[in-house]
Amino acid sequence: MADIRSNFVGIKSPNPFWLASAPPTDKAYNVERAFRAGWGGVVWKTLGEAGPPVVNVNGPRYGAIWGADRRLLGLNNIELITDRDLYLNLTEIKRVKRNWPDRALVVSLMVPCEENAWKAILPLVEETEADGIELNFGCPHGMSERGMGAAVGQVPEYVEMVVRWCKQNTRMPVITKLTPNITDVRKPARAAHAGGTDAVSLINTINSITSVDLDDFAPEPTIDGKGTHGGYCGPAVKPIALNMVAEIARDPAMAGLPISGIGGITTWRDAAEFLVLGSGTVQVCTAAMTYGFKIVEEMAEGLKNWMDAKGHATLDDVIGRATPNVTDWQYLNLNYITKARIDQDLCIKCGRCHIACEDTSHQAITAIVDGARRFEVKEEECVGCNLCVNVCPVEGCIDMVPLAAGSLDQRTGEAVPPSYANWTTHPNNPSRVAAAE
Ligand SMILES: Cc1cc2nc3c(=O)[nH]c(=O)nc-3n(C[C@H](O)[C@H](O)[C@H](O)COP(=O)(O)O)c2cc1C
Ligand code: SF4
Ligand code: SF4
Repeated sequence: MADIRSNFVGIKSPNPFWLASAPPTDKAYNVERAFRAGWGGVVWKTLGEAGPPVVNVNGPRYGAIWGADRRLLGLNNIELITDRDLYLNLTEIKRVKRNWPDRALVVSLMVPCEENAWKAILPLVEETEADGIELNFGCPHGMSERGMGAAVGQVPEYVEMVVRWCKQNTRMPVITKLTPNITDVRKPARAAHAGGTDAVSLINTINSITSVDLDDFAPEPTIDGKGTHGGYCGPAVKPIALNMVAEIARDPAMAGLPISGIGGITTWRDAAEFLVLGSGTVQVCTAAMTYGFKIVEEMAEGLKNWMDAKGHATLDDVIGRATPNVTDWQYLNLNYITKARIDQDLCIKCGRCHIACEDTSHQAITAIVDGARRFEVKEEECVGCNLCVNVCPVEGCIDMVPLAAGSLDQRTGEAVPPSYANWTTHPNNPSRVAAAE
């Protein structure tokens, strides 16, 4: 069976599944039960500096988006960092690490952007024998107004400065957790790299308002008639997180920088996608909050089964395997031509493909053939966009079929060229000559 033991910046864990810093990792009670359920590691809920802990709201702190079956697709929260005493957390961290030496225990930190504040907390964490620290530069609410979290993560110079302070003042590996609330995530990631970070983790939550109460005219969750933006996470953010992971993984300026992937991971398949795009470990929050700690069993078993089926022996065989296949649009093969094909045996004649293609695409699907309701692709109109595949309610009913080189593309009336060609050399590209020169 595939070996999914992980060694991430020297931090070993029996599998790459870590719980992200959040309520599931808020206290020893949770973390020990998570370890018993099989989680390979945790990032402890973010600690702040010594003194009176932060205070959370005492009303609803979550907003949500559901699918038609009320499956939770997106979760939004206005929670802060830990609201428990620093020394209580540190005592529990030390005890849990002693009890579970084979699991990864990383401590998330957020203190003011001053060197002395970091110098004060690092030895306290080191004393617990935790495996590493994660710098929370991501929280988008509450803490950012106080000059921490995303307020640091959005300024690459600050990121580099704080990472450097931490590297100078601790022997523990430093993982820098990035905010997605930024235009180009490579900027803070490069800054963290320049500061000497051992790894980056991403994504933290996304600024959002999930819904508005139309009776009270206030964003939800509503606290006594008012609401505020919260951090969005869960399955809905996975595409954003995957793209950001890939952007960092394929950036030559950060070649080899370890990445811990986070964002919407709910199944083994989600995890595998993060791994193949370049993540060395994955972190999970919303899925554990929705389904409980036991989901790690399905994740670990599913990952091993997939690796066995494909002949991948260790995580190193899969990590980053898809990264070279992420490219810029201009390098996509314009001579790769596909056409939609409808399986008439599977088609339930709902007509959704016809409406989508007729109203918003290329008028390439019939509704009536010889007086009868029938949905067929008109190859001479089809541009291969696959909108019909995505709106069809029957999985596998519409396929995209590539045309063989040399065969006739009925739409253009030309033979499919045999070779790869992209926009950089296309005759319609006004920059083509300049690019060639
Ligand atoms: C209620 C809640 C509290 C969170 N608190 C923290 C935190 O204290 N520190 C942190 O770095 N991230 C925090 N996060 C963000 C998660 O660690 C994670 O980055 C994010 O939820 C995306 O992962 P997911 O889609 O699996 O939930 C929190 C998330 C939630 C839902
Ligand atoms: S692939 Fe696009 S253009 Fe072709 S039939 Fe489907 S929706 Fe229409
Ligand atoms: S959407 Fe799918 S099932 Fe519905 S008519 Fe088109 S091919 Fe048939």
